[in-house]
Amino acid sequence: MYVESPRYTERFGSVRINDIQKVIALDSGLKTEIPPHGAMGVVKICEDTIKKFEEKLAVVVPVKNEKLKLFEGVISGIPHDCLIIVVSNSHREPVDRFRMERDALNQMCRYTYRQAYIVHQKDSFVAEAIKKAGYDELLDEDGLVRDGKAEGMVIGLLMAKLAEKEYIGFVDADNYSPGSILEYVRIYAAAFSMGKSPYVMVRILWHYKPKFSGGTYFKKWGRVSETTNRCFNSLISSRTGFETNIIKTGNAGEHAMSLKLAELLPYASGYAVEPQELVSIFEQFGGSLPSGPDDVVRHGLDLFQIETRNPHLHEEKGTEHLNGMLLDGLSTIYHSPLCDRETKQLIISQLTAQKTLKSKKELPAPHINRPPSQVDIREFARHMDSRLETYSALHEE
Ligand code: GDP
Ligand code: CO
Repeated sequence: MYVESPRYTERFGSVRINDIQKVIALDSGLKTEIPPHGAMGVVKICEDTIKKFEEKLAVVVPVKNEKLKLFEGVISGIPHDCLIIVVSNSHREPVDRFRMERDALNQMCRYTYRQAYIVHQKDSFVAEAIKKAGYDELLDEDGLVRDGKAEGMVIGLLMAKLAEKEYIGFVDADNYSPGSILEYVRIYAAAFSMGKSPYVMVRILWHYKPKFSGGTYFKKWGRVSETTNRCFNSLISSRTGFETNIIKTGNAGEHAMSLKLAELLPYASGYAVEPQELVSIFEQFGGSLPSGPDDVVRHGLDLFQIETRNPHLHEEKGTEHLNGMLLDGLSTIYHSPLCDRETKQLIISQLTAQKTLKSKKELPAPHINRPPSQVDIREFARHMDSRLETYSALHEE
């Protein structure tokens, strides 16, 4: 794969925020007659390097009642050497959709000789293990894991830790194009290889997100991402005193990071999760507030934003869904101790102009699940170990 080299990097405390790097070509061949690393502003990431990182990577697929064909396509696009972890919150009645997902995953794994795990979000044994770890905020009144993509992501993270992976990446299950899933994961591997620090995160920017209404329009920026990015940039500018537009992936659902970093971040419920990760990185490592762990401050943190070649084709879930996403995302910025008055005003004015909010009283703080490093992960592992086999996609009942 060829990717633009990180040509422009802004620093915010210990965080090295790299500007967008485009994928130049999806494959770079076997021969290595290319000038060394970085020549001509392009980095060649060898196939061996990509494979080396894929082996250490767990790819988590959160899914809730998506069309089975889409789910099948998504899992078929995940590189062979990655461990797939599906966390499903799909209905089990009247039709057992979870069963259908498990069967599809089982079939693919059997035919292609690979390993995968699949867990239902409402699995009572998993809930018990989470309780044992002291991760109570993840549970609802019934003692089961709460609804929400973020909560599914946390289960995936704990499973990745259990499987002793070093990296974790997320891909949504509602993607129409298996080829773009393959590209996302290759980008994750490419970014890890470019990171200088063991604390690394990569967020995907889509080349285009086509809209189909009559004809096809290849739209680049959506309303939600544009607004979220603007508020992020206002937050950074207010702290550094230099206006910036460095953040272009505030909402990125497709993203990946080292587990070392993943364990240090809190996970906000619902669609606040991805923006909250960035907010927390800036809070802990941006240098304005008391710092997170010394080791991160020593190594720094590499944040990559990489633009795909493939367009993003996914299920459109309507205006209400988008408004919810905007509100959840901006509330993470608004309620951060980093947020200054001007950014707060910007958030409120954007939300009222877009008719998402009537008054600022309606901007509730997100529900935050503590960083996994603050719970007893070993207790979770001890409890899960005895039954881990039953979550394997190859397990037959
Ligand atoms: P968007 O693509 O960010 O607009 O949001 P989606 O509604 O498409 O959700 C992203 C992914 O999370 C999809 O694969 C959904 O099926 C999945 N998802 C949504 N809600 C839940 C949930 O409660 N639990 C799990 N495990 N996955 C969910
Ligand atoms: Co989607």
